Amino acid sequence: MATPMSWLAFGSKLIYSQFFVRIPYPTSDFSGQTVIVTGSNTGLGLEAVRHLVRLGASRVILAVRTISKGEAAVVNILASTKATKDTLEVWSLDMSDYGSIKAFAARVEKLDRLDAVIQNAGILSSDLKMINGEEAHIVVNLVGAVLLGLLLLPKLRESGKKFRTRTRLSFVGSDVQYIAAFKEANSTGSLFEALNSQEGTDMGDRYPTSKLLLLYAVREIASRSPVTSDSNVIINFMTPGACRSDIFRDDVSWFKNLAKELMLTTFARTTEVGGRTLVDAVRPDLGVEAHGAFLMDCKVAVNGPNVESNKGQELAQRFNAELFPKLEGISPGITKVLR
Ligand SMILES: NC(=O)c1ccc[n+]([C@@H]2O[C@H](COP(=O)([O-])OP(=O)(O)OC[C@H]3O[C@@H](n4cnc5c(N)ncnc54)[C@H](OP(=O)(O)O)[C@@H]3O)[C@@H](O)[C@H]2O)c1
Repeated sequence: MATPMSWLAFGSKLIYSQFFVRIPYPTSDFSGQTVIVTGSNTGLGLEAVRHLVRLGASRVILAVRTISKGEAAVVNILASTKATKDTLEVWSLDMSDYGSIKAFAARVEKLDRLDAVIQNAGILSSDLKMINGEEAHIVVNLVGAVLLGLLLLPKLRESGKKFRTRTRLSFVGSDVQYIAAFKEANSTGSLFEALNSQEGTDMGDRYPTSKLLLLYAVREIASRSPVTSDSNVIINFMTPGACRSDIFRDDVSWFKNLAKELMLTTFARTTEVGGRTLVDAVRPDLGVEAHGAFLMDCKVAVNGPNVESNKGQELAQRFNAELFPKLEGISPGITKVLR
């Protein structure tokens, strides 16, 4: 079990963030830049793309699992911005399929430049769904996200050097990492075996745990990929806060539906406002303090006890000791990009 923040402390943070923080309207200049946004046919990803084209990005790649949905998103963006059709591209990417992620990364290698990646695709479900023997949140929100991030890191480094710019890689996490219980940590054996066991899975905790483990991985990657002249890439983990999107579409229990309705009607941000936070996490003038950081409300936030406590640090180490060899199994040589 991890060391979650108390509900009182989490609730206070949430109330402050949702009611009292004003999320700035993005104004950074993305002229000439190429940006990838995963899961951008709807929700926060779609709104992030809309901001990016408004801010002058010259090429935005919508990485989506259903091409027709990506094309519909392009039509929607073109109708509401001054963007031209050649600015927006729809590429196929299924985060539940490691083969698709590798094929996508191979296609990215051929780009002339890559300035920023927003790893936004994610799922939240109360159903236990297995994909080739692995639980779906673990595949999509965690292993797939880290796999793609590491595969794209060399291209981000190369572009940084070639165009003398600072490139950015942001993982869309969640503030619910603060309250993840991660009961699977009680297992004495393999953490992945426990996470992918179909016995007694607490699906209410699965989404928060997938985001906490993603944070452990992102912090490790950032510490093993320091910002230097050879690797001028800022890597971070961010939360958009609670937003009115489709994320709850597969969350079916009546209690959660009630809680969701309450949340959505009282304090959730619009997806447009949530999209601002995604763009802020990859803005060109991002400082080095954002590297390896947890960003909330467009600022570096405290990591919380699940990360900072002795137990949290031990768990992160134990988890990463399993994750990186696992990634080597999926894509041999992938961890060579890290120190
Ligand atoms: N909304 C919130 O309150 C909130 C709070 C904190 C963090 N977040 C995070 O923000 C991110 C975006 O969520 P959202 O709220 O915008 O939810 P959303 O409206 O449900 O959008 C999720 C996006 O991810 C895509 N996706 C899901 N599985 C995929 C897969 N296997 N391969 C490729 N794409 C896939 C979806 O594509 P389809 O349309 O094809 O399903 C969709 O484009 C997620 O990582 C979520 O965890 C959201």
